[in-house]
Amino acid sequence: MNTPPPCENTGVSDSIPGREPLSEPALSDERRTRDTRRAACPVARSPAGVTLLRHADVVAAAADPATFSSAVSAHRHVPNGLDPPEHAAYRAVIDPFFTPGRMQTLEPRLRTIARETVAALPRHRAVDAITALGYPFAVRAQAEWLGWQGIEDELLAWMADNHAATRSAERSRTAAVAAAFDALVAAQIRRRRELGDAAPRDPTTELLRAVVNGRALPDADVVSILRNFTAGDLASIAAALGVAVHFLATHPAEQAALRARPGDLPEAIDEMLRIDDPFLANRRVTTRATRIAGFVLEPGTRVELNWTSANRDETVFGDPDAFRPRDNAPNNLVYGTGIHVCPGRPLATLELVLAVRALLAMTARIELAADAAAERGTHPLGGWTRLPIRLT
Ligand code: HEM
Repeated sequence: MNTPPPCENTGVSDSIPGREPLSEPALSDERRTRDTRRAACPVARSPAGVTLLRHADVVAAAADPATFSSAVSAHRHVPNGLDPPEHAAYRAVIDPFFTPGRMQTLEPRLRTIARETVAALPRHRAVDAITALGYPFAVRAQAEWLGWQGIEDELLAWMADNHAATRSAERSRTAAVAAAFDALVAAQIRRRRELGDAAPRDPTTELLRAVVNGRALPDADVVSILRNFTAGDLASIAAALGVAVHFLATHPAEQAALRARPGDLPEAIDEMLRIDDPFLANRRVTTRATRIAGFVLEPGTRVELNWTSANRDETVFGDPDAFRPRDNAPNNLVYGTGIHVCPGRPLATLELVLAVRALLAMTARIELAADAAAERGTHPLGGWTRLPIRLT
């Protein structure tokens, strides 16, 4: 592992130590690398800007959108790239999609999908929990929720392309994948417009009829929100499921306890994700000179809020690997904090709980496959990209 650079705070941003390049072993478990870096220094500079590693600094930045703006991209991203006051008007439209009543209505349909996906997994031999469980479950659940039934295979192919493009870090590839997704969404919108009053009553149709500040949403905003929903749902649900399955497979005592008390799953899964947060970071840009962790940041500084690192801050959680669902819940940052806190949390929790519940109910044991190696995701992907398990 690389030796962390010195952290001499002279009060100017130039003194923020660099974090690149990371060696291969450091990249292969960035979570542990961050543990070492965080202990040496609260911030790190990379070509992408300044990364905040400690819990208190990440929370402070997320709580101050006037200084840490989310308008980081030249393109409009709704709602994640919006700042106050515009942001609140869009959240007022988005938040009602995730009420307890809506989740209750959706639950039986998602439970069936979870059970069918788990039933299709082979027993007594290695199976990849990411491609055989995480991806298909996330795609089917997403299609069911948004009313996109019938395009599951297209979504699965898109996920694979998206994953490959993200890993390549090539702008042209990521742009092509984004355009392919927009085309997919555009087809859903076109279909509903053509059907008019006969359009299915689902969240996609509802979004098309939504009104913000007295105006119907422009199609570009509908596409952007749906891209946000899909990006949130597909990639993070698949990754989060991988983290939960890995935890269960490597913690037999907790696995047995959760088999006996599945009602504990919501809090337990949140804690598994705190320990190994697969949703690594979100970006901000400073609107004015500010001081964070004692370092001065000039206006226009790109800042990364590193949720994965903040969720393992030993000054808040003690031993970051200790599994303490109840104690750690109040400080858990897996779903963010501040005005951009994840609106999809109830849906994410429902999906994860149903998938893990089905897995526990329909097996006697979950363990890592002895003869195949797991592979961790590397920045900007967290969690596991391959997770061979064996079910009995
Ligand atoms: C395990 C799954 C998920 C994780 C870990 C996660 C995590 C997060 C985090 C950390 C943020 C804060 C971003 C920021 O501060 O810049 C966020 C925002 C957001 N999430 Fe999630 N999310 C998940 C699932 C979902 C799902 C299922 C949906 C919707 C279907 C969703 C929709 C969104 C949206 C729309 C935002 C932007 C909110 C805003 O800017 O106001 N997420 N999510």
